[in-house]
Amino acid sequence: MLDLSMEYSAYYAERASERERARQVGWRDERAQLARFGQLARAIDHAAGAAFDVADIGCGLGDLLPFLRAAGFSRARYAGYDVLPGMVEAAAAHHRDPDAAFRPIRDIAEVAPADYCFASGIFNARNDHADEVWEEHVRVIVRAMVAKSRCAVAFNMLSTYSDEDRRDASLFYVDPGAMFAWCKRELTSDVALLHDYGHWDFTIVLRTGGAKS
Ligand SMILES: C[S@@+](CC[C@H](N)C(=O)[O-])C[C@H]1O[C@@H](n2cnc3c(N)ncnc32)[C@H](O)[C@@H]1O
Repeated sequence: MLDLSMEYSAYYAERASERERARQVGWRDERAQLARFGQLARAIDHAAGAAFDVADIGCGLGDLLPFLRAAGFSRARYAGYDVLPGMVEAAAAHHRDPDAAFRPIRDIAEVAPADYCFASGIFNARNDHADEVWEEHVRVIVRAMVAKSRCAVAFNMLSTYSDEDRRDASLFYVDPGAMFAWCKRELTSDVALLHDYGHWDFTIVLRTGGAKS
């Protein structure tokens, strides 16, 4: 198991003085962050006013929560999890919402089951790990998200359909087709690959009603 808390603490400490919240958690700006949230929300089948549970893995400052509220999901119960205790504390202090909770975790096993499991931006910074190590890390987490989710899982990853000369060696890029095929083969037959939103990443949505055990 990778010690992500150690690995990420310097990375996010460097960004803590940024003025914009989205930049503090590593996005270029709020627009970029919201664009990813919009894709995750495509996984939600519940009606706007319905009650359901969301687990946000790698919640950062918890900004998916106000996004969901603004999208009309007024009764969604939100649980944000992050490997960095400082992130979780800052998120809890900022978001005063009776239906939200924030928790530091060391391992995905600590995440409670939910209707929807989301992860935005958590697979991008590879922390100097070799491809095989990071690929396995991603697979372990995605498998666990599927096991914990009653309705759907959605996560994003950087795409190899990006300009090669503008890629950052510290980030992890994946062939979206290969990721889609792995999800379809190993996890569930209901897979959507969303690569139509004008960014250098893609989003995968897995419907877990028919998940393979
Ligand atoms: C790029 S930030 C995005 C934060 C948030 N999802 C957002 O979009 O605003 C990634 C966050 O995920 C956390 N993280 C990365 N891998 C994680 C994991 N396996 N489990 C829990 N948190 C993780 C990091 O500590 C960081 O706070």
